[in-house]
Amino acid sequence: MAAPTFFFFISFIFSFHTLFTTAADTIAVNQTITDGETIVSAEQTFELGFFTPGNTTTTRNRYLGIWYKRLATDTVAWVANRNNPIANNSGELTLRPDGVLVLRDSNTNTIIWSSSSTGTVRNPVAKLLDSGNLMVVDGDDISVNNNGDYIWQSFDHPTDTFLPGLKFGRNLAKGVVTNFTSWRSDDDPSEGEFMVYMDFDGLPQVFQKRGNEIQYRLGSWNGLRFTGMLSLSPNSIFTFSHVSNENEIYYKFELINRSVLTKMMLTPAGNMLRLNWINRTQGWFMFSTPTVDSCVRYGLCGPYGSCDIEQSPSCACLRGFTPKDPSEWGLADWTNGCEREIPLDCGAGEGFRRYSSVKLPDTRRSWYDMNMTLKQCEVKCKNECNCTAYSTLDIKYNTGCLLWYGELIDIRTYSDAGQDIYIRVAAAEIEKDKTTSRSKKKVRMIVIPVMIGLTVLLGVCLLTILKRRNSKAQGQHDSIAKDREGSKIYESRDNDLDLPLFSLSTLLGATNNFSFNNKLGEGGFGPVYKGCLDDGREIAVKRLSESSTQGVEEFKNEVIFISKLQHRNLVKILGCCVEGEEKMLVYEYMPNKGLDLFLFQEAKRKTLNWTQRFHIINGIARGLLYLHQDSRLRIIHRDLKAANILLDHDMNPKISDFGMARSFGGNDNETNTNRVVGTYGYMSPEYAGDGIFSVKSDVFSFGVLVLEIVSGQKNRGFFHQEHHHNLLGHAWRLYKVGNTLELVDASLDGSTFEILRTVHVALLCVQNNPDDRPIMSTVIMMLSSDGPLPEPRQPGFYTEDAKFGPENSASMQTEKSSNEITVTLLKPR
Ligand SMILES: *[C@@H]1O[C@H](CO)[C@@H](O)[C@H](O)[C@H]1NC(C)=O
Ligand SMILES: *[C@@H]1O[C@H](CO)[C@@H](O)[C@H](O)[C@H]1NC(C)=O
Ligand SMILES: *[C@@H]1O[C@H](CO)[C@@H](O)[C@H](O)[C@H]1NC(C)=O
Ligand SMILES: *[C@@H]1O[C@H](CO)[C@@H](O)[C@H](O)[C@H]1NC(C)=O
Ligand SMILES: *[C@@H]1O[C@H](CO)[C@@H](O)[C@H](O)[C@H]1NC(C)=O
Ligand SMILES: *[C@@H]1O[C@H](CO)[C@@H](O)[C@H](O)[C@H]1NC(C)=O
Ligand SMILES: *[C@@H]1O[C@H](CO)[C@@H](O)[C@H](O)[C@H]1NC(C)=O
Ligand SMILES: *[C@@H]1O[C@H](CO)[C@@H](O)[C@H](O)[C@H]1NC(C)=O
Repeated sequence: MAAPTFFFFISFIFSFHTLFTTAADTIAVNQTITDGETIVSAEQTFELGFFTPGNTTTTRNRYLGIWYKRLATDTVAWVANRNNPIANNSGELTLRPDGVLVLRDSNTNTIIWSSSSTGTVRNPVAKLLDSGNLMVVDGDDISVNNNGDYIWQSFDHPTDTFLPGLKFGRNLAKGVVTNFTSWRSDDDPSEGEFMVYMDFDGLPQVFQKRGNEIQYRLGSWNGLRFTGMLSLSPNSIFTFSHVSNENEIYYKFELINRSVLTKMMLTPAGNMLRLNWINRTQGWFMFSTPTVDSCVRYGLCGPYGSCDIEQSPSCACLRGFTPKDPSEWGLADWTNGCEREIPLDCGAGEGFRRYSSVKLPDTRRSWYDMNMTLKQCEVKCKNECNCTAYSTLDIKYNTGCLLWYGELIDIRTYSDAGQDIYIRVAAAEIEKDKTTSRSKKKVRMIVIPVMIGLTVLLGVCLLTILKRRNSKAQGQHDSIAKDREGSKIYESRDNDLDLPLFSLSTLLGATNNFSFNNKLGEGGFGPVYKGCLDDGREIAVKRLSESSTQGVEEFKNEVIFISKLQHRNLVKILGCCVEGEEKMLVYEYMPNKGLDLFLFQEAKRKTLNWTQRFHIINGIARGLLYLHQDSRLRIIHRDLKAANILLDHDMNPKISDFGMARSFGGNDNETNTNRVVGTYGYMSPEYAGDGIFSVKSDVFSFGVLVLEIVSGQKNRGFFHQEHHHNLLGHAWRLYKVGNTLELVDASLDGSTFEILRTVHVALLCVQNNPDDRPIMSTVIMMLSSDGPLPEPRQPGFYTEDAKFGPENSASMQTEKSSNEITVTLLKPR
């Protein structure tokens, strides 16, 4: 091409530029966009033009890019010449008649960047869509409706931003592979070291790498989500889909309401974040990130090792496997992983053992078929000696077959998510499984000689008679005291609730007939007693008052929820007892009782140092995250308060009392209730006012709790000589004048940075508008990192007098429903 004449002609055309502005979202053939000019998508969502990134004044580097037109910060979504800046304002973008976009530096007359074109092009036009996609299409029809066909599009060449509608994956027909590479820094868009990409070996997977090293494996698609992205679930902001056929494999998401913006972005620091635009704060807010804990590191536990964030140490060998190098393993160097205790020999007796709740291992050496059943899958795997494991391909429809060859690596165990995998084990292991599954009775009959059995039986009988006499002597409860054999823990007949049953007599014995001296306090629906089982275990028994009608509901609620939840920051239930009128729940005993007893008593408060308090705050946050996001049920607690945080021997916090908890299904993240329950001082405005509860009402309560922990003051009943604000208002006032440290309990010593940051996070949690409040995974990240935090806005309920913040217009309704508020007793159990 004869460039000089061409360009002369272009600049000539330029003077007629206004002729083209009837459609300011397009670039016509031979039209030039110079530095300073822009084109804007139809609904003014995106703008294309030249920019200088960041706010540095040291560089005049100019880049051609696309940014959100109406947003003020961090708006650049795409950069054309990221590795090749233009030094002066001399860039010119032109659409050539052959459909190629060319970016030139008119000073030096060099081509800086150009798009590509295929085949013959008759009448091209470039158009910036409201999705942020710059498309070059052929034809007079500017509306880009020619069967979705196009010459070139910027969505096929993304930089660091994953916009709604963009297809992340590959398209064989177009020869397109999309991936995201971070900027080098906030003001340098050139390719940084981090990349998120799809790997198409075996079952396609998403990885993040730094340089050449794999950092994270976000995993393969299982029909519902990527195996390593638990946070991906149906929500009110975006829908998502995954398509896999001979031609295309991709994942994409779409906005549900175009006025609610969301994007994903790989930051220069290597964090893949989902960000939501919050109009009120005029800023991007982190919604989720798949990489929140240490278990996400690729291959942390080596082959056949499994990472469990709940355990310490977090790496363990899968059952039937043992550390390859025990001494290294002992020193927490797990990379060599584990090996089989019994090697495989490809004999006929070999079979598969099921491992549940796992993140499936790396599938780069795998094979899959969408139509096979699990049974066919097993047969195929069994027939190939080098096949090490199999699983269902699609857990949404329970179809398909996925086979692994070679070592299994990058497995983790989730407490309440993940899926099943069947791993090939030796014949002897299969035998072991069979043995353990045989009933104990049978085993005893085979193994233990009859004589010993008889002796034991005799002993038991004698013991029973003796104990019976004892309890008779104790008197009045004898009529209900049944056979002492009943004191053993039985499996519940109800298969739904695998909750052990305690007999009434056991609990009577353990609590000294519910003596007043054993009473620990009053829980949500009845008194709580301390007890001691025959085997020495200490327990807490919560007894439903006979008179309480509402209590029955809460009792059921608690049984249903807590029996299905397991987390080290939730109180553990040991069993229950339902006999006649009596209904009781049995928990592990928490020697340090409720957090309120520590916080709100002068003498004990002093014993709680900052390290412990920070540990407690983090523990509560993790427990709450588990309830909200990671547990199968997805639960809103609704009554989070100091009295419901119990402390174990080592001052680990455990959330308790699920009497008011509610589970929320996939889509309805927000629910309405007629009966407002909870505790004043911890209730969020939208809940106390309108009965609307969501995970964000728990986040509010959490924020209040954190301020109480830091200050050692109660929110409700807080008094200050200078104003009528409650603790939230007080904290807000001090924050605004930059005097947060005055809030902090005088007896605290600790990292000032950590304390200030914690208060800042708490203030973010108690913001009046639920949308402004972070979700718990964000809270945890904010507490544990030291990056910048968003500015909090005014908290809800910051005056005790007015009860409801000035921004809450629902006070009429509030008056009405406040009658229905049941304020739970502040006493702990
Ligand atoms: C664009 O410029 C080329 C060469 O300068 C010319 O041949 C062509 O007709 C022009 N096309 C339009 C649509 O103006
Ligand atoms: C922009 O400038 C402000 C103040 O000079 C600075 O705090 C901030 O970090 C800068 N931002 C970027 C992206 O460079
Ligand atoms: C940028 O423009 C300045 C003068 O405006 C000139 O001195 C300099 O050489 C130009 N740089 C480049 C790379 O063209
Ligand atoms: C990233 O995408 C480019 C094309 O846009 C492709 O050439 C490259 O192979 C991809 N890298 C990976 C790791 O997929
Ligand atoms: C989208 O959100 C806006 C503002 O939140 C609302 O006014 C509008 O009705 C919503 N549109 C749809 C289709 O839900
Ligand atoms: C966003 O906030 C601005 C004021 O900050 C307001 O004018 C605009 O209507 C808001 N947009 C939406 C969609 O709520
Ligand atoms: C799988 O089943 C679908 C329909 O159930 C069918 O269209 C497809 O051809 C099958 N694929 C294979 C490989 O058999
Ligand atoms: C596994 O073994 C079979 C033969 O049994 C062979 O055809 C296949 O290529 C092997 N696959 C791998 C991944 O080694």
